[in-house]
Amino acid sequence: MVTLNINGRDHQVDADPSTPILWALRDNLDMTGTKFGCGAALCGACTVHLNGDPIRSCITPISAAQGQKITTIEAMESDRVGKAVQDAWVRHDVPQCGYCQSGQVMSATALLRTNKRPSDSDIDNAMSGNICRCGTYQRIRAAIKDAAKTLA
Ligand code: FES
Ligand code: FES
Repeated sequence: MVTLNINGRDHQVDADPSTPILWALRDNLDMTGTKFGCGAALCGACTVHLNGDPIRSCITPISAAQGQKITTIEAMESDRVGKAVQDAWVRHDVPQCGYCQSGQVMSATALLRTNKRPSDSDIDNAMSGNICRCGTYQRIRAAIKDAAKTLA
């Protein structure tokens, strides 16, 4: 058993310590908001926060998260910054197919926690690991700037 603190609550996970966080979330805990894209840290679909920093849950084993704080897309609704990001996503109609978007929201939220007025290049740097096959990048950038304004 591995104990994982997720969104402020401890969960017991019956899985090998080498299991990626992504699969513990989806298969053991039925938290399916975090998506599997590439499984190789190349697309960002699986992004969650570990102690507030965005990480790729597809390559991070649960053993690395013991005693740490994992935050997932399921907690963004009740997070001041995450909610502002999600509201801006809705205003700007960001998602197309939607598959990459929970990862995009997690990376955008981590950015706005540390940078209250990100420039275009700040946004590009922070979001460069999050791939969107539908090409929603312009709307993502506009929504991040809009969210920053509402948080100011
Ligand atoms: S599924 Fe983790 S980065 Fe693509
Ligand atoms: S909205 Fe379809 S992959 Fe990003």
